[in-house]
Amino acid sequence: SRTPVNVTVTGAAGQIGYALLFRIASGHLLGPDTPVRLRLLEIPQAVKAAEGTAMELDDCAFPLLAGIDIFDNPTDGFAGANVALLVGARPRTKGMERGDLLAANGGIFKPQGEAINAGAADDIKVLVVGNPANTNALIAQQHAPDVPAERFTAMTRLDHNRALTQLAKKAGVAVTDIAKLTIWGNHSATQYPDIFHAQIAGKNAAEVVDDRTWLADTFIPTVAKRGAAIIEARGASSAASAANAAIDHVHTWVNGTADGDWTSMGVVSDGSYGVPEGLISSFPVVCKDGKWEIVQGLDVNEFSRARIDASVRELAEERDAVRELGLI
Ligand code: NAI
Repeated sequence: SRTPVNVTVTGAAGQIGYALLFRIASGHLLGPDTPVRLRLLEIPQAVKAAEGTAMELDDCAFPLLAGIDIFDNPTDGFAGANVALLVGARPRTKGMERGDLLAANGGIFKPQGEAINAGAADDIKVLVVGNPANTNALIAQQHAPDVPAERFTAMTRLDHNRALTQLAKKAGVAVTDIAKLTIWGNHSATQYPDIFHAQIAGKNAAEVVDDRTWLADTFIPTVAKRGAAIIEARGASSAASAANAAIDHVHTWVNGTADGDWTSMGVVSDGSYGVPEGLISSFPVVCKDGKWEIVQGLDVNEFSRARIDASVRELAEERDAVRELGLI
């Protein structure tokens, strides 16, 4: 049998953690032939709760689960990690300014980046889920100078999946009929879900839908504000759908995108599409052999350009703010 892959999950005792760990252990992250060893990282106060989740994982007797270890410090938590899902973050509380939020998260993602740099496996792949995800990923990446920058990614797959379903409903098709949808920019309300290159059963999605008003006034805000709508309806933030998107993100990164399709990932910009180099922004990406590549050469119309620029401007402001705070 194969050597187990070490998967570190931070925020393991949180609500996304609870929806995520069982699916990792049952083989949905890496595939049905890959055993996993879970490394759960929590803050000391939440270690006991993580132990409870570990007891339940034991009680599932998952054939692919080779072991579970629980840690309360990043140095041990990331030692030997092949895949790291950075879910634990400091949420924005009432009255908190952006600077305070970024500073609090810098206090989490800086030491985590350092620990990944010091002790993760050479093939480490990092997905940051905890918000503000793009900028948290940037902070961690900047503190891991020995790890190739492309190994740090931020999650916009939930936005991508949300957009797939909204478009499928509008067009009266199945999600599997849709290809080449893109989320651009920041995982925030400024993100831009783009259907101008998307295809529905091989035809251009924007032409099939042929409804600019719906696009501007319904589709984009519905996708961008879905997180708030879930909180409003459920009384708690998206957890199972976020965990599902994290599974999808890593599964696609490792196993590749389908021929004729791409996905959306927050990745380090190489300057493509006018996104300043070094920012971690969502792009259309193709994955193959465990590597991602930004899809090149797409025409960006005026409608899209303004929206991509606005979201990227926000990312640049967040980067400048963490720079000013001395976090990068
Ligand atoms: P939660 O509050 O239920 O759980 C967070 C957990 O992280 C807690 O157990 C906490 O003890 C732990 N934690 C805090 N600091 C930590 C540290 N330094 N090391 C290890 N663990 C630490 O939150 P939930 O609902 O699980 O969400 C987690 C994050 O995911 C939030 O930041 C949320 O905004 C974000 N999120 C991102 C999405 C995306 O699409 N990128 C979608 C949904 C949520």
